[in-house]
Amino acid sequence: MMLDDACAWFDLDAEDTAEVIVAAAQIAADDALSARVAEVVRQLGDHFEELKLWNLLELPSLFDPVVDRDASAAVRWLYVVAFAEFLPTTLAAHARRGIPEATSRATIADLGRHVRIARRLYGVRACIEQHWLQAHLRGILYDLGRLQFNLARLELDQRQLDEAGIDATPGTVVVETHIPEAGPLAADAVDASFAQAQSFFGAHFPELGTIRYATCDSWLLDPQLSDIVPGSNIARFGARYRLFRTARESDQSALDFVFRAPTTPREQLPRDTRLQRGLLDHLAARGHIDARYGWLEVPAGASDR
Ligand SMILES: CC(C)(COP(=O)(O)OP(=O)(O)OC[C@H]1O[C@@H](n2cnc3c(N)ncnc32)[C@H](O)[C@@H]1OP(=O)(O)O)[C@@H](O)C(=O)NCCC(=O)NCCS
Repeated sequence: MMLDDACAWFDLDAEDTAEVIVAAAQIAADDALSARVAEVVRQLGDHFEELKLWNLLELPSLFDPVVDRDASAAVRWLYVVAFAEFLPTTLAAHARRGIPEATSRATIADLGRHVRIARRLYGVRACIEQHWLQAHLRGILYDLGRLQFNLARLELDQRQLDEAGIDATPGTVVVETHIPEAGPLAADAVDASFAQAQSFFGAHFPELGTIRYATCDSWLLDPQLSDIVPGSNIARFGARYRLFRTARESDQSALDFVFRAPTTPREQLPRDTRLQRGLLDHLAARGHIDARYGWLEVPAGASDR
């Protein structure tokens, strides 16, 4: 596959694509950077379709977008060059599993979404979300309309699962839910994504059996949001899940998702929406937002005869 074809799959614009091509040439001329790309490709292959999202691969940040304003194209795009090299393996697996091309395209195009977010955050052309995007390349994460889902195994112990009322055991295969920044979280669009999940994974990953549960680990599941933005899409989304006990303080992550302005002092952040005002007031009053982890039963999918 040509590099510019891969960049089209990644939904990169012409300027980014031109930079990736420059980056690939710089990398090809540098033994250390070439070895790093080969190492990323090796890790993607070694952990292909392994049912765990985070902490499998070592993908260190190669520059700091806040301070390294002059980082070379090679450094800013190295992970995209590596992902492009690996992409044919991902797409071959998608094809072998009968994944519709539109789903493959929507899934892989998330890379461009995150490149554009990084540009809004830091004013830099770069890929800084390699830890997130490796899951797409490893063939465990799919875009099913409004939501994305990745295959995973439950890692809680039996007591924690029983406490939360889920009929599952440690290691049960579930899908983890992700909410891309793609417009409002309308209830009917969310319903449509959940309605597809069981039949999609049943048809394309039959060896995993029937997926009964979706989990979600997100600031959007903090029940305090139902007071901060009552009656909202966010409150309704959170209410779909039954919560496990675990909670992780997540103030900065919530601020980042809402404002996408990590270097702006809090008092200068905009107060245009209910969520912006509510979140800032909540934090100013020494409140916190927690990432909460929850589960729901996905609707039974149409049987695949
Ligand atoms: C989750 C998300 C799609 C919800 O958007 P939504 O459906 O428009 O949200 P709601 O309708 O529930 O919004 C309720 C209020 O909060 C505001 N709001 C919601 N998300 C906002 C955001 N990201 N930034 C600023 N304000 C936001 C809305 O404008 C609304 O306020 P208003 O009544 O004054 O207009 C959106 O917040 C988003 O794209 N977030 C980034 C992705 C993310 O957080 N993913 C989870 C990762 S763990």
